[in-house]
Amino acid sequence: MSFPTIRGRRLRRNETIRRMIRETNLSVDDLIYPLFVVEEENVKNEVPSMPGVFQMSIDNIVKECIEAEKLGIPGVILFGIPEHKDELGSEAYNDEGIIQRTIKAIKENTKTLQVITDVCMCEYTSHGHCGIIKDGDVDNDETLKYLALEALSHAKAGADMVAPSDMMDGRVAAIRDILDENGFYNIPIMSYAVKYASAFYGPFRDAAESTPAFGDRRTYQMDPPNRLEALREAELDLMEGADIIMVKPALPYLDIIREIKDNFNVPVAAYNVSGEYSMLKAAIEKGWLDEKVIYESLISIKRAGADLILTYFAKEIAMRL
Ligand code: PBG
Repeated sequence: MSFPTIRGRRLRRNETIRRMIRETNLSVDDLIYPLFVVEEENVKNEVPSMPGVFQMSIDNIVKECIEAEKLGIPGVILFGIPEHKDELGSEAYNDEGIIQRTIKAIKENTKTLQVITDVCMCEYTSHGHCGIIKDGDVDNDETLKYLALEALSHAKAGADMVAPSDMMDGRVAAIRDILDENGFYNIPIMSYAVKYASAFYGPFRDAAESTPAFGDRRTYQMDPPNRLEALREAELDLMEGADIIMVKPALPYLDIIREIKDNFNVPVAAYNVSGEYSMLKAAIEKGWLDEKVIYESLISIKRAGADLILTYFAKEIAMRL
């Protein structure tokens, strides 16, 4: 009888040795916490399809940000839900709009927290599309002007970083230009460069009230089977001046995160989206899965190559790290 000389189990014998040879670590430094702000006062409404996630009024958002900062979470990303929506999404670039007021309130009440804003039209337009509609289609170049105004308005309100999520061609350049022209050359752009047309955004659209009134987003978001296109999108956004490249969703696209990490020398962010959150939460609530699946999911995103993870689990995982 022959015995194995090489035994993988030697280095798995106890938690200390496992800790010593662990190849990937999840740190609170990696986390970005998404938040949904509404205009009404005194609101903390749980999103039915996202247990533990709330639409909050500015006062509650500020409390949440103070808590996040205490937990060591370095950044939040804000999504605004305006009372008034119209064809041109005018609340998106209103200097007194919901996001603009929220940024100021957070900045007044926190010290180091990085306030990142999602730059997109879908929460602000009456039709729910990510841009301006002309002849029944989202008009790319017309939309760029509005996205630029929105990003500028966020920067003026004190945002530390802007994150365009609309998937229009040329938006990073348009935003970089307007920010630089107005002296905001130090504000980084985290581009949702590789954003797939995913069914995993369903719960977010409940939370952000941004479901398109007609059609879908497949003429601007990417087709899930594509890989080379992801590299091209990332390359273009980098040429236009993006500082951080995001892949979204995360778990069904771990291969893409790895590709982006291996091909470009910039920080990579991954968005652990609403559907990824909801499916784990639902199974945990039912007792079908142990909550350890949360850490395992997030570490897989790290292992795939993400430097930053946008996740609704940010607070609960930060408490456990
Ligand atoms: C806005 C936007 C979306 C998400 C982030 N920014 C929704 C969409 O494109 O429909 C999704 C985030 C999530 O599902 O958690 N365009």
